[in-house]
Amino acid sequence: MHIEDLQLKNYRNYEKLDAQFENKVNVILGENAQGKTNVMESIFVLAMAKSHRTANDKELIRWDEDYAKIEGRIVKTHGSLPMQLVISKKGKRAKYNHIEQRRLSQYVGNMNVVMFAPEDLHLVKGSPQVRRRFIDMEIGQVSPVYLHDISQYQKILQQRNHYLKQLQTKQQTDQTMLDILTEQFIQMGAKIVMKRFEFLHLLEQWALPIHKGISRGLETLKIDYKPSADVSENQNLSKMVEVYEEKFAKIKKREIERGVTMFGPHRDDLQFIVNGRDVQTFGSQGQQRTTALSVKLAEIELINKEIGEYPILLLDDVLSELDDYRQSHLLNTIQGKVQTFVTTTSVDGIDHQTLKDAAAYRVESGVMARIQ
Ligand SMILES: Nc1ncnc2c1ncn2[C@@H]1O[C@H](COP(=O)(O)OP(=O)(O)OP(=O)(O)O)[C@@H](O)[C@H]1O
Ligand SMILES: [Mg+2]
Repeated sequence: MHIEDLQLKNYRNYEKLDAQFENKVNVILGENAQGKTNVMESIFVLAMAKSHRTANDKELIRWDEDYAKIEGRIVKTHGSLPMQLVISKKGKRAKYNHIEQRRLSQYVGNMNVVMFAPEDLHLVKGSPQVRRRFIDMEIGQVSPVYLHDISQYQKILQQRNHYLKQLQTKQQTDQTMLDILTEQFIQMGAKIVMKRFEFLHLLEQWALPIHKGISRGLETLKIDYKPSADVSENQNLSKMVEVYEEKFAKIKKREIERGVTMFGPHRDDLQFIVNGRDVQTFGSQGQQRTTALSVKLAEIELINKEIGEYPILLLDDVLSELDDYRQSHLLNTIQGKVQTFVTTTSVDGIDHQTLKDAAAYRVESGVMARIQ
């Protein structure tokens, strides 16, 4: 799929933008702080209904304005469809094909994007939270049910934590409500963990050969899910529920003492392993980069497999972060099949035919114009 045009109104430092894009590589050039990342982010937000940079939607609205609007036309094999997202101080409104979508989980997934920004190097190095966010976003793109489940899970978790706090401070003494919440929490949590196991398994299948290719056959990548409780990939849903039930019965007293939910998907992590060793702890800078790049390229293939269309690739400031070999590996892979947006302050030092044939735009203080 590709995005044919994009309109912005009061989005970050854009008062107004109306741009046409090519179904190939689009290079966005500009000095620092002019609005390159903002354009990339707006395409991401149009697809995901949330930013990759902030959890606070209000930041996306241009200062001193009431709302921000993003619109774009997405072209797929079977026709083209308009998407629209309005972000106001009261919340978000999403339209797909001119029809308002009451649930964002129904809206997200109609347009697929893969973002690769310098922060993604944190995917390996950063906190477990970064990896959980990654896995939730990616599964959400291909599974509306999962998005729905995750938001239900968050609500139950909040309620459960709230109730545990009340028991801890003795504002409540009756544990019946806790038991009900625990059961709901376990049912939803087990569903989520099952889906995460399944997704990581697929992701690993794609990432392994890609990683081998980039490392010239020297490295073998494994991706492991690290659950906080003793559940495993070999268990079916009812077995997993049983394991959680035992666990939560055992730790009930401790949870009340601490006033917080101690186990579950919100405490899980994932681990990248190269040649048998954890990349986060033992990987070189280069191995971490290769891992992040392999995972992103694997995502592209996985989305294509699940959806039947390649996603739109957003490369914000990363080309210059990769050495020549990884750069050309990336550009060779996407060439001719993935609509790609590349931001950079300068194309000097990026010597690849794909960029010479690309459409080019220049951004200056929130104004973008086509230059090639
Ligand atoms: N809500 C907002 N309203 C108005 N301006 C904003 C808002 N949020 C951010 N900006 C401004 O947008 C400008 C451009 O930001 P952006 O991150 O897109 O720059 P960039 O071109 O990617 O720069 P760099 O090369 O440093 O990454 C910043 O100067 C920032 O102050
Ligand atoms: Mg930027």
